Amino acid sequence: MKDFLALADYTPQQLQAMLDRAVALKKEFQAGGNAPLLKGKTLAMIFQKPSLRTRVSFDMAMRHLGGDALYLSPAEIGLGKRESIADVARVVSGYVDAIMARVFDHEHVVELARWASIPVINGLSDYNHPCQAMADALTIYEEFGRLQGINVTFVGDGNNVAVSLMHACAKLGANFTIANPEGYDLPAAAVEQARQFAVESGATIRQLRDPHEAVREADVIYTDTWTSMGQEEEAEKRRKVFPPYQVNAALVAEARPHVIVMHCLPAHRGEEITDEVADGEHSRLFPQAHNRLHAQKGILAELLAD
Ligand code: CP
Ligand code: NVA
Repeated sequence: MKDFLALADYTPQQLQAMLDRAVALKKEFQAGGNAPLLKGKTLAMIFQKPSLRTRVSFDMAMRHLGGDALYLSPAEIGLGKRESIADVARVVSGYVDAIMARVFDHEHVVELARWASIPVINGLSDYNHPCQAMADALTIYEEFGRLQGINVTFVGDGNNVAVSLMHACAKLGANFTIANPEGYDLPAAAVEQARQFAVESGATIRQLRDPHEAVREADVIYTDTWTSMGQEEEAEKRRKVFPPYQVNAALVAEARPHVIVMHCLPAHRGEEITDEVADGEHSRLFPQAHNRLHAQKGILAELLAD
């Protein structure tokens, strides 16, 4: 029984196999189309929050591989409200071959996986975003030909996207640095895990306050929204704290000349990233978003292909 809830659950070798598969499936797709690896298989996609990339890329990934996907909106399921998570998991397990779920509370996706008799994929929780990190790793690999030894700097909130990016780097040998304001640190337990993974891969993990120090020597600068879904009531407060962490042209100029800029999107242009950077020569925002499709195929193939 395989789930995809966190990169921490996978060995570097397993993650590398998924990435290799994503690279191969992307090549095959661009050469004319994918073989129907998942013919007759169906993915139920349960969303408690909005989505563009995750929803469309999973849906299209299933179709390209000969399968099908079913979108279940927050209003339809009422996960844990209309019906218990345990009951939803057991019912849906009888209809489809896998579940992808985007939830508020990470425990809810863990609970789904506990009760489902089919694989469960985490499509973002308040704790992490492992599918995003696979697309990020693919994007970095395509740019530099490797992850090992690449300096990845996250500037902003120590949020769900940062947790998975840190674990991807730590597992695959990229050096991870975060610069975030006080009070917005990554969860300490996630950092501790990353340090353990890094011992094996040779990566370094750094937590700094100063974004300028953090981007020096960076090959990749990564940012994300200051206010994640579910934190809307903190938006005003966060808008006052985070401006020194904006990724703008001046900050990018302090990194290595070949630095690439990444963002999981959706972006709040003018806040965590300027238009000039998002649309500038260093930006890889759209190739990165497109790689969600290919990375997802790698994950689905590893979990579902016969
Ligand atoms: N990056 C990402 O997960 O985007 P969506 O919220 O649009 O799915
Ligand atoms: N950190 C953001 C990512 C969105 C894809 C959020 O959770 O809203």
